[in-house]
Amino acid sequence: MLNDLQKEIIELKEEKNAIILAHNYQKKKVQEIADFIGDSLELCQKASQIEDKDIVVFCGVDFMAETAHILNPNKKILIPNAEADCPMANMLSADQIREAKKQYPDAAVALYVNSTADAKAESDILVTSGNAKKVINTIDEDTVLFGPDTNLAKYTEQFTDKKIIPIPGDGHCFVHKMFTIEDIEKAREKYPDAQIIVHPECNKEVQDAADYVLSTGGMMKHVKENDGVFVLGTEVDMISRLELEVPDKEYYPLREDAVCGTMKLHTLKLIKECLENEEPEIKLSDELAEKCRKSVERMLEASK
Ligand code: 13P
Ligand code: SF4
Repeated sequence: MLNDLQKEIIELKEEKNAIILAHNYQKKKVQEIADFIGDSLELCQKASQIEDKDIVVFCGVDFMAETAHILNPNKKILIPNAEADCPMANMLSADQIREAKKQYPDAAVALYVNSTADAKAESDILVTSGNAKKVINTIDEDTVLFGPDTNLAKYTEQFTDKKIIPIPGDGHCFVHKMFTIEDIEKAREKYPDAQIIVHPECNKEVQDAADYVLSTGGMMKHVKENDGVFVLGTEVDMISRLELEVPDKEYYPLREDAVCGTMKLHTLKLIKECLENEEPEIKLSDELAEKCRKSVERMLEASK
């Protein structure tokens, strides 16, 4: 049952002809009022198809809202809390990419969507954790500079003959770095029949010890198609999404403290205020958005 504030947001959203997009890591109360919930790839795909709405309220971290802006330069893209950023995205600067390009002039630059717009402007193509395996093999060059996530770079390397060079070399997600082999061993003892699924941002040894390595969208698909008990090695609110859409199965977090704080900055109060005031708005210069657009569109094409 929706509470009063949630109902007010839904009314306001209809009045303003707005759509609410939310990432899988949003709090349950936010997911409940969203029109569309998904992983980074699904949110990019959805953002490329918004034709009939005037306003997009993006409940995710800023690089995701920026992608929606890049694909919809004439629409108002709002982010309820402008402080919501991804610490990993800030680990790779445009200057670091330019330096790496000087060192490897024949390499292509494939960036994780979890990157800043300035970094994306230096890239040839983007990837998400849901499409990296597929997209990497559409690149012509034999050497690929890949950043900022080193774990995703190493994971992707298993599915291609290309030489992948992680940049900056130590980029990581502090949430997914928390998971250890001991967490997996404990989960196997506690839930002997469970399937353990982890995200490709986890360390290699954790990926190797798990049963499946999947993006958050991949996790959703997997639990829809399989029965059983599931232990999830990703941000805790992924379970809110699974419980909302596939409620008849059992889910446990691999760690209860795997929380991405900036994802949680979007409160119902801020969502309502942002719809009322039509701010904060995500804006990039036309020139920067144009430079990023080619890499986003190339990824969307490659992941078809
Ligand atoms: P997904 O694309 O799998 O949702 O991952 C995004 C992310 O930020 C993971 O930490
Ligand atoms: Fe960034 Fe990690 Fe949060 Fe995902 S979970 S938004 S990668 S800090």
